[in-house]
Amino acid sequence: MKLEYYGVAKGNLKNGLSLSTIPATNRNRFIKNIASGKASNMLDWINLPDMKEKDILEIESVAKSCNHMTDFVVLGIGGSALGIKLLKHAFVDSLHKNPKTKVTVCDNIDGDSMVSFLDSLNLKKTMFNVITKSGSTSETLTQMMIVIDRFKKKKIDYTKHFVVTTTEGIPLWNWAVSNGIPVLPIAKGVGGRYSILSAVGLLPARVMGLDIRGLLSGAKKSRENSFKADSSNIAYNCAYINHCYLKEGLTNLVTMPYSDRLAYLPEFFAQLWAESLGKKHNREGKVVYAGQTPIRALGVTDQHSQLQLYSEGIKDKLIMFVRVEKPQFDEKVEEALPFTQHLTGTTFNTLLDYEYNATAYALTSQDRPNYTLAIDVVNENTMGELIFMLEMMTAFMGEMLDVDAYDQPGVELGKIYTRAMLGVKVDQESAKAIKTYMKDKKKFII
Ligand code: PA5
Repeated sequence: MKLEYYGVAKGNLKNGLSLSTIPATNRNRFIKNIASGKASNMLDWINLPDMKEKDILEIESVAKSCNHMTDFVVLGIGGSALGIKLLKHAFVDSLHKNPKTKVTVCDNIDGDSMVSFLDSLNLKKTMFNVITKSGSTSETLTQMMIVIDRFKKKKIDYTKHFVVTTTEGIPLWNWAVSNGIPVLPIAKGVGGRYSILSAVGLLPARVMGLDIRGLLSGAKKSRENSFKADSSNIAYNCAYINHCYLKEGLTNLVTMPYSDRLAYLPEFFAQLWAESLGKKHNREGKVVYAGQTPIRALGVTDQHSQLQLYSEGIKDKLIMFVRVEKPQFDEKVEEALPFTQHLTGTTFNTLLDYEYNATAYALTSQDRPNYTLAIDVVNENTMGELIFMLEMMTAFMGEMLDVDAYDQPGVELGKIYTRAMLGVKVDQESAKAIKTYMKDKKKFII
C-alpha cells in the first residue's frame, strides 16, 4: 500500500503540512501505547492477524459444512455486518459473480425488506450465521427469533441451519452449545467494529470462497508498517494529517474510492471512524466533543454529485481518496463517431485514472486538502492490509484526540430507551422519559 500526499504537502497548497517533520516523541509513545495494550483493554484485535492454525481450520471446516447450501445469511448489525458487506462487495457483487452459495447480510429490521427476503429463501437450503459480540442486540435477536419460528412452522430442525458467532460463556453461546449449534468465538478484547478479521468476518469470507489466510497475512504486513517508528508509517501519517486539519476546522473526512470494488469501504470506515472517535469526553473525563464526521463518496460517480460541494462549498472537508492501481479488467474504445474521437483508444481505467488525477489536482489547486491511499490490486492480501491500516489509523487518531476509541457510550442511551419500550426493566427515569416523549410528540404533528 502507498500513501500519496501531494494534496496536503507544504508548497502545494496554502495550508500544506510537512510530513517529514512530524514529531517523533508522540508517534513513538502512541505506538507503544497501542502495541503494548496500555491504551485500552480492548486492543486484542491487534493480535487477530496471528490467528492460530487450529482456529483457522475450524472456521474453514464450518464454512465447508455450508457448501451444500444455496444461501448463507448473516444476521448482525454494525461491526457484525459492515466488514462482511465490504468483502462481499469487493469480491462477489462488484464482479457480478453468481456463487453456488450466496452470502446475504441482513443488518436491518425493516419488515418490508426482511419479510420479503425471508419469503424468497428455501429454508432447507439456507444457513443462518447469527453474529453478535454482546449477544443481546435486539435487532439481531429479533431476526434470529423470527427465523427460528419460520423453521418451526415448517417442521425443519433449525439447529442444523444456524452457526453462531459470539462471546464465549454468555447466554447466547450457552444456548447454542446446548442445542448442538456450532459456535465460533469473538474474543472479549475485540470490539465489534474491530472484529472483521476474527471469525465474524472470516467465516462469511470463507463461505464466499476467499483465502482467509491471505486476509490475515495482509493485515500482518500492515501491522508491521503501523508499528514502524519512522516516516514510512502510513497509518500514523494518515491520522496525523487528519488531526492537523481537524484542528484547523476540517471537521469532515470524505472517503472516496475510485473503484467500484471498494464502494463499501466508505461504509465500513464510516462506522470505525465515527463510533470510535465521536466522543463527548476525553480519557480524563473532560468534555471535548471530539470526532470528525465521515462522509461516504465514490469516484467517479460522485464527481457528478457531491464534488461541487467539496471543491467550492464550505471549507470543512478533507478528502481521502482510495485507488486500485491495476484493476482486473479493462476495455478499450475502438470505434469513433465524429463527436467521440477524443475517446478513441482510451480505456475504462485510463479514463478513471485521468478523472481521479484531474479531481485531486483541481482540489489541491483550490486549497482543498486531499491525500490518496493506493493498493496495487484488489485481493485478499491487499484488503487485509487496507482494513488493518484503517483500524490502526483510527487507533492513532484516538490517541491524538485522547479519547477511548473502543467504547460507544452515545449509542447506549438509544438502546436503553428501546429496551424500556420493549418492557425490559431499565431505570425508572429513562422509562418515564421515553413514555412522556411518546405522548408529548403527538402534540407536534401537523
Ligand atoms: O462496534 C461496535 O461495538 C458496535 O457497532 C457493534 O458492532 C454493534 O452495536 C453490534 O453489536 P453486537 O455485535 O454486540 O450485536
